[in-house]
Amino acid sequence: TVAPSADLRNSSSPLQRFVKGKRKINDIFVEIEDYVLDSSNYVSALRKENKVIVDEGDVKLVTDYVQKIKGIRDVLARDHMKVAFFGRTSNGKSSVINAMLRDKILPSGIGHTTNCFLQVEGSENGESYLMTEGCQDKQNVKSVGQLAHALCKEKLNENQLVRIFWPRDKCFLLRDDVVFVDSPGKSNTNIFFRLVPVLWQFLYPELSMFPGIDVSPNLDEWIDKHCLDADVFVLVANAESTLMVTEKNFFHKVSTKLSKPNIFILNNRWDASASEMDFQDQVRAQHLERAADFLVKELKVCSPKEANERIFFVSAKEVLQARLNEEKGMPPHSGALAEGFPNRYFEFQDFEKKFEECISKSAIKTKFEQHSQRGKSVSQDIRDVMESIYEKALATQKDKSFVKKDLNDKLNFTEQQLLLITQEMKEKIHHMVEDVEQRVSKALSE
Ligand code: GTP
Ligand code: MG
Repeated sequence: TVAPSADLRNSSSPLQRFVKGKRKINDIFVEIEDYVLDSSNYVSALRKENKVIVDEGDVKLVTDYVQKIKGIRDVLARDHMKVAFFGRTSNGKSSVINAMLRDKILPSGIGHTTNCFLQVEGSENGESYLMTEGCQDKQNVKSVGQLAHALCKEKLNENQLVRIFWPRDKCFLLRDDVVFVDSPGKSNTNIFFRLVPVLWQFLYPELSMFPGIDVSPNLDEWIDKHCLDADVFVLVANAESTLMVTEKNFFHKVSTKLSKPNIFILNNRWDASASEMDFQDQVRAQHLERAADFLVKELKVCSPKEANERIFFVSAKEVLQARLNEEKGMPPHSGALAEGFPNRYFEFQDFEKKFEECISKSAIKTKFEQHSQRGKSVSQDIRDVMESIYEKALATQKDKSFVKKDLNDKLNFTEQQLLLITQEMKEKIHHMVEDVEQRVSKALSE
């Protein structure tokens, strides 16, 4: 059989590294929050007793961290791995997402052109619903048909985002915090605007860029709004034609805004080439070369070796059908099937494997690295405050040695106490910093 079961894939999935890392770093921040609260209470109380050894700035610095840490914990709780799909209309973006989700979730095909940004993410409570931008209402979605209907009845502009919440237990990608973003395949519904770039490319093939019009006027906004936090981009191309200028332009723009975006290229509809077996190898080699040149030479986002792990020839339609069959306990394919199906199915699974590795690695790096640096710097700042308090307490104690002995003894006693507490606090903080540093670097290296 060509398809390992979903559970088997899940247990060894690199996505779990992100999930575990997120849990770990969350635990660390719970502890940091505890320490910051402790420190804030301690420093504020000390300031009331002794204005010399604790100044206002120290109190403010430490207490301000209480809110900041809370903010980081909120961001952490929302952190996910995000993949965004782009490509010309009807290339099969929605179909690829459905194939990965193992269910017909997104409407696809004739009459179901995606006309705004759709984000599919796991819902917390096993419900399925959608939310449109700027509206807090949850619209219940019982079935895929209903979803398509709900999307049609909304007056949506192409730049808008509709969030689709789908039960996490229906797909391990959702359960493991992967969020899918589907994009509208055409930037303008007017057929004229869609044809102009095609004509341009036909008339002036030697010019790589089409000026102005094919770049959607909203492209900048698209990227700023939906792509800056994407960990992986998937360009769904049509294996029956070459990469289009419009598709390329989009990624040129993305790579001016993001350094080295992770881009996969899926040559979809590869099943359609099955009837032309004689040319298949030739066509594949040509597509491969052009796609690799695009990633390596034009965008300079990966090496030639890496490019081989980023370009795949697949059929989303077949994979989705196969998975729906398997779900019903049927063999992956039934009826007439285009030649070479097992290879294409295997190649899709290979894409998913490389994709999971890439997205989890990228998300851990971009999301957790920043948080762990922040955690380290917070604990370091608090340690510095404690140390300065300790030094000042020590200095005041030395000054007091000139004061008369009996008074001195009393003072000494309280300040000794103070010193002890400060020392204890300092050690506590010291341990915390080391502990946090150790755990963060262990978590990161894992
Ligand atoms: P827009 O939302 O309009 O931008 O299109 P899309 O890129 O989301 O394409 P969609 O998934 O809606 O697919 C368009 C049509 O192509 C549907 O009828 C799919 O069934 C069909 N299709 C998708 N993938 C494949 C494939 O690999 N092979 C074949 N033969 N047909 C496919
Ligand atoms: Mg679509």
